[in-house]
Amino acid sequence: MRVEVSNLGHAYSRDAWLFQGLTYTFTPGQIYALTGASGSGKSTLMAILAGWTAPAAGRLSMVGVDSIGWVFQNPYGVAKRTAIDHVMFPFVASGMRADEADESASELLRRFNLRDVRDRQFRHLSGGEAQRLMLARAAASSPDLLLVDEPTAQLDRATAHVVNAVLSNVTSSRTIVIVATHDEETRDACDVNLDLAQYSARAFIE
Ligand SMILES: Nc1ncnc2c1ncn2[C@@H]1O[C@H](COP(=O)(O)OP(=O)(O)O)[C@@H](O)[C@H]1O
Ligand SMILES: [Mg+2]
Repeated sequence: MRVEVSNLGHAYSRDAWLFQGLTYTFTPGQIYALTGASGSGKSTLMAILAGWTAPAAGRLSMVGVDSIGWVFQNPYGVAKRTAIDHVMFPFVASGMRADEADESASELLRRFNLRDVRDRQFRHLSGGEAQRLMLARAAASSPDLLLVDEPTAQLDRATAHVVNAVLSNVTSSRTIVIVATHDEETRDACDVNLDLAQYSARAFIE
């Protein structure tokens, strides 16, 4: 399984290239940090990878990628559902028995340091807990490609730290994980850094 881009570039208006000439292969088993200043095109590249936006130049090829998951900067859950419900749901939806789903979901809550809030409703979770729950839920759905966009952008430093501390736990041998971020600590929690600045129009002039 892999995601390959070759000579990829995007501009929303004529000649205003956000990035150009991006050739890269993403594979499962490690987390990629996609970095670059605000406005450099990180979210745009994620939308291209998700198939929402057609690139203005170059090619995207998905090999064996059938499902895509997202985690956004604002945690989005169901207010009155408990934490464990959120993580059990993907397992149950995939046809797992309730007791097995409970066991798998409980293990994920442990992995993301959420055991203590297992039965708490989403609306009562702190920002850091809610974001870690989104990561646990994404891990439960085990998509082929997981796109995480600025997971700590809405959090204060201390809260961002607890999210960054467990971020690498989304790594899986069956999932390609890409995290767009301008948080250095988030970048450091990833295995590989792809810096969009190297593909900006300015990089070509210099
Ligand atoms: N749908 C769109 N139409 C036109 N311009 C857009 C659109 N989406 C984003 N942009 C612009 O493209 C640039 C890159 O945006 P974005 O990909 O969100 O960057 P980042 O995620 O790195 O902050 C920004 O200047 C933004 O205003
Ligand atoms: Mg963005």
